[in-house]
Amino acid sequence: MAGNTFGTIFKLTTFGESHGTAIGGIIDGCPAGLELNLQAIQKDLDRRKPGQSEIVTQRKESDEVNFLSGIFEGKTTGTPIGFAIQNTNQKSKDYSHIQNSYRPSHADYVYDEKYGVRDYRGGGRSSARETATRVVAGAIAKQFLAPMTINAYVSSVGSLDLKTNPSEVDLSKIEENHVRCPDVKIASEMEALIKQIRKEGDTIGGVVTCIIKNLPVGLGEPVFDKLHAELGKAMLSINAVKGFEYGSGFKGTQIKGSEHNDLFNTDGSTKTNHSGGVQGGISNGMNIYFNVAFKPVATIMQNQDTINSNREQVEMQGKGRHDPCVVPRAVPIVEAMAALVLADFSLIKRTNKI
Ligand SMILES: Cc1cc2nc3c(=O)[nH]c(=O)nc-3n(C[C@H](O)[C@H](O)[C@H](O)COP(=O)(O)O)c2cc1C
Repeated sequence: MAGNTFGTIFKLTTFGESHGTAIGGIIDGCPAGLELNLQAIQKDLDRRKPGQSEIVTQRKESDEVNFLSGIFEGKTTGTPIGFAIQNTNQKSKDYSHIQNSYRPSHADYVYDEKYGVRDYRGGGRSSARETATRVVAGAIAKQFLAPMTINAYVSSVGSLDLKTNPSEVDLSKIEENHVRCPDVKIASEMEALIKQIRKEGDTIGGVVTCIIKNLPVGLGEPVFDKLHAELGKAMLSINAVKGFEYGSGFKGTQIKGSEHNDLFNTDGSTKTNHSGGVQGGISNGMNIYFNVAFKPVATIMQNQDTINSNREQVEMQGKGRHDPCVVPRAVPIVEAMAALVLADFSLIKRTNKI
């Protein structure tokens, strides 16, 4: 399997399967001397972990990270940062029904066809459990990036939509409810909808919005490695993601250039921010904001037609402990992947000018 490493200088390589001994990673290229707040890392892991509320999977994992190298007396040493998170709450028999059959819209069929061998327990490597390792690396990247801030929140669940402009959202409210939507009224409607969908044995999708503040001008390499292209790749590499848009996005196609252009102030900032903080693939110092669309989870607790490895039609019903809607848990994953992209570009920036 290729492609387990992300980044150019600030690099994360991850390993592990959902029901193996542990998942973990190696962070290469993190500068030496960075004082680490280990509690902040654990806090981000807790925001992603299963079992944290009634509206997520009831799998119980403590998701405690154990650092193996690269940190001495609370600071990074510049050497590879190795870390592991033990898997402690596997129930592999919940997955025996998918040993020889394929969940529709999951990764079972393509893994079998591609590799000819598949650790079906908990979805193996295709499980979003892998994203816990991204959260660890992203939490370190966030600390490296300070005073830059990266905040994500849930902006829609199904057709329930938070219409507030990202720059007007009160970010201090995000963690005040289980959904991680900063509007308490819409959050409670979203929570009720997720509970209803779960009761029906079904699942639902949603959107996570991310806003990044206090950026310098000049992050992003303007040809193949444009800042928005790397953010797009980072987001689209997260399990269950179906769409990415930044700045004015798809709605921007509906207005004219005379309305869309961001006019300058004399300090180089702009009066509007339809560009979403990126022009020509380079950060322009304005806030970056983008949306990430997550599909309804593939594993539903209803009978569905599918096929088995002998290409026979069979019926399947989902079993085990699954998320009815991934967006509340996806919020720290989106932040982490954004932090990895920005930390990498902050180090690459040294080629800008003397
Ligand atoms: C935080 C998070 C939790 C997820 N939980 C589940 C789950 O409980 N059950 C499931 O079938 N898929 C879940 N997924 C999605 C699958 O990992 C994903 O659909 C699968 O790997 C196939 O990949 P694809 O949907 O990107 O094509 C989750 C995704 C995320 C981001």
